[in-house]
Amino acid sequence: MGKQYQITEFCHHFLKDYIQENDCCIDATAGNGNDTEFLCRMAGEYGKVYAFDIQEEAVTNTRRRLEQAGLSERAVLICGGHERMLEYVREEVAVIVFNFGYLPGGDHRIATRAETSLPAVRQGLELLKVGGVMNLCIYSGGDTGYEERDALLAFVKGLDTKKWLVIVSSYYNRKNDPPLPVFIIRLR
Ligand SMILES: C[S@@+](CC[C@H](N)C(=O)[O-])C[C@H]1O[C@@H](n2cnc3c(N)ncnc32)[C@H](O)[C@@H]1O
Repeated sequence: MGKQYQITEFCHHFLKDYIQENDCCIDATAGNGNDTEFLCRMAGEYGKVYAFDIQEEAVTNTRRRLEQAGLSERAVLICGGHERMLEYVREEVAVIVFNFGYLPGGDHRIATRAETSLPAVRQGLELLKVGGVMNLCIYSGGDTGYEERDALLAFVKGLDTKKWLVIVSSYYNRKNDPPLPVFIIRLR
């Protein structure tokens, strides 16, 4: 555990229990490939990870990272919006990760938006197997604003309690809009 216990570290820790060798997973926002690499490692040699990003730069960074780690064979990289997820993924998945916002080190104006994030989350839930989990890392404030966070939180609040368990964690004593780790577990 790092000194800061960053949101991705916290989420990966939680997600480990939900991924087994050979599983299929989705990284809905590949960015620089940190989550894609994690999912590829967890899914093992015969696992499969679909990774989406709308920016060529992100897909290139992710590809390079996976190549360096010797993991590229496990991933299908898609330069396209996650709101088209169902066009690309036709199998049940164990884990789906959304790390919203902008590409670290990239253009802050190119970021996820509620109008595409919500359809993507809905589609992801359709693909999730029983016992699987969707992870949302939600940011707000600063360049990001509050619209996407509010829309996502309102949506998950309304999910059927018989079918879904929704856990919203918080960095409770941190100031200035700390990130929100959310987990949506499919119960049946
Ligand atoms: C916070 S970054 C992701 C960080 C990444 N998970 C990592 O490990 O480095 C958010 C990414 O979402 C991408 N993005 C924005 N809109 C998108 C969309 N509609 N579909 C897929 N990716 C999108 C951005 O280009 C950006 O790279």
